[in-house]
Order: sequence, then C-alpha cells, then structure tokens
Amino acid sequence: MLQNLKIAFIGGGNMAASLAGGLVKRGCAPERITVADPRPEQLELLAEKFGVCVTPDNLEAASEADVLVFAVKPQVFREAATPLAGRVGTRRPLVISVAAGITEPDIRTWLGGDAAVVRVMPNTPALVGAGAAALYANRQVTPAQRELAQAILEAVGIAVWIEDESLMDSVTALSGSGPAYFFLLMELMEAAALELGLPAEAARRLTQQTAYGAARMALESGEAPAVLRKQVTSPGGTTAAALAVFQEAGLGATVTRALTAARDRGRQLSQESAKGTKS
Ligand SMILES: NC(=O)c1ccc[n+]([C@@H]2O[C@H](COP(=O)([O-])OP(=O)(O)OC[C@H]3O[C@@H](n4cnc5c(N)ncnc54)[C@H](OP(=O)(O)O)[C@@H]3O)[C@@H](O)[C@H]2O)c1
Repeated sequence: MLQNLKIAFIGGGNMAASLAGGLVKRGCAPERITVADPRPEQLELLAEKFGVCVTPDNLEAASEADVLVFAVKPQVFREAATPLAGRVGTRRPLVISVAAGITEPDIRTWLGGDAAVVRVMPNTPALVGAGAAALYANRQVTPAQRELAQAILEAVGIAVWIEDESLMDSVTALSGSGPAYFFLLMELMEAAALELGLPAEAARRLTQQTAYGAARMALESGEAPAVLRKQVTSPGGTTAAALAVFQEAGLGATVTRALTAARDRGRQLSQESAKGTKS
C-alpha cells in the first residue's frame, strides 16, 4: 500500500527519523520519502542513514506529497503549516500530525479548511520500533487514507484508533507519559534490590529483563494483567507478601490520581499551545 506513494516529513528530528527509518525498513522506497528540516547536519544524517531525499525547503518537500507528516514541535506548527495551505488545497494530501496537543480544528484552519487530517499521539519507544500510538481521523479522511496512516505508524509499533478527539489527553496520560511510569518502577525496584544487598550490575540487569519478560508475557498470552498476576501469585507466598504491601499503600488510587493529573496537565498545555500559536 505504501509502495507507490510519496511521503513528505515537515521537521526531520527524532520522531521523523524513527518513522522514516521504520518505513524504509518495511520496504518503502527511500526515494519516495522526502524530509524537510532547517538543520543541514540533520538532513545529511538522514540522507546518509536511510537514503531518503532531503531539503531545507518545506514547500519543495510538500510539492508532490500524497502524505504530509508534520513532525515539528507544537510551538512551531502554525508557522510551518500556513505557508503550505495552498499546496495542501490543490494537491489534497493526507495530513498526519504527531505534534502533542495540537488539535485537528487548528490544523485544518492553518491548512485551509477541509484538509484530511489524522492526529497522532505517538510515544518515545517509537524511537526503537516499539511505539504505542493513538490515531484520530477527521471526517475528510477516506477509509483508504485511514489504512495508510495506520500502516505508517505501524512501521514503528502499534496503532490504535480513537473516535473522540477529546480522549487524546487521556491517551497522553496513558501511553504518552506511560514509559516514564515504568522507568520509575524499574528505578525503585533497582534501588530496593541494592538495599537488599544485590550488586548494582545484577540489580539493573535483573530489573530490566523482568520488565521486558513481563511485558512480553502480557503481549503474547493476550491475557488480562489481573489474570497473569493471579497466575504468578501463590497464596501465602513471596509475591503475595509484596502485593499486600502495594495494596495497603493504596497503589491503585495513586495510579488513578497520577494519570488524572497527567490528563489535566495535557488539557492545559493543549489550550496554552493553541493560544500561543494562534496569536
Ligand atoms: N520524540 C518523541 O518521543 C515524541 C513523542 C510524542 C510526540 N512527539 C511529537 O513529535 C513532534 C516532533 O518531536 P521530535 O522529538 O521529533 O522533535 P525534534 O527532534 O526537535 O524535531 C523537530 C525538528 O523540526 C525542525 N523544525 C523547526 N521548525 C521547523 C519548520 N518551520 N519547518 C520544518 N522543520 C522545522 C527542528 O529544527 P530545529 O531544531 O532547528 O528547531 C527539528 O529538527 C513534536 O510535536 C512532539 O510533540 C514526539
């Protein structure tokens, strides 16, 4: 599906590099991918690493694109988008935005009214091909373009559709910020293991592999986490002793409060960046 299309990236930083790299790895012809960025050293690196076409000129990148991926920071989205409105109006590419907090109505306004827009909330593990992205499509997006957006994001992980854009702030709280929650738990487990007398190297490696193994089991078994937890918890055993402490400390309520705080902060930042980029 991706083979015959021309894909342009506006912004060639971390997210664009991982998406472009993922697409090339999946067999997308590098000469069909163009990346535009103001930094010559970044363009050189992308051309060398993936063989993609590069340019410092956003208009040139967008001129023949069937898919236009905006991978710039939210605060520069408007200045990057508005000069491309004419090109989007005539060529009518699918517009994909990975910018956190920038809403579909704003993107459509800046690009001239009735662009087909897919807004994406990716996360950092996309940089190692293990991302979790949520996608929202406006009503201008055709079923074929939906498939296309999904295929592009699946080049760096999984993609899940959300039908209500207001839920994007909840997605940010879950998978956007989520890697940090797991890093925190790993950090705390490692520190506790040191206190229990394990050498540093052993504590780190055992923690990392335990996190990886648990995630793999959850993914490969398809079971709910509660089922897997019960399977590995014998009554009166060591795991049960630890879980009782988590429960007594109110871990469940703490996690709910933490995700709610992230969701509310996401809403606030989204409103602030809308105001900032509109003025
Ligand atoms: N990285 C992640 O894990 C992650 C996760 C979730 C969402 N996102 C979203 O993905 C987007 C990109 O993030 P990133 O981490 O890839 O950022 P990044 O590494 O800073 O890349 C953005 C690139 O865009 C360039 N740029 C600035 N103004 C431009 C313009 N007018 N036209 C074209 N390019 C321009 C920047 O150049 P200069 O450095 O010279 O400004 C930079 O090279 C952000 O909106 C972010 O919210 C990223």
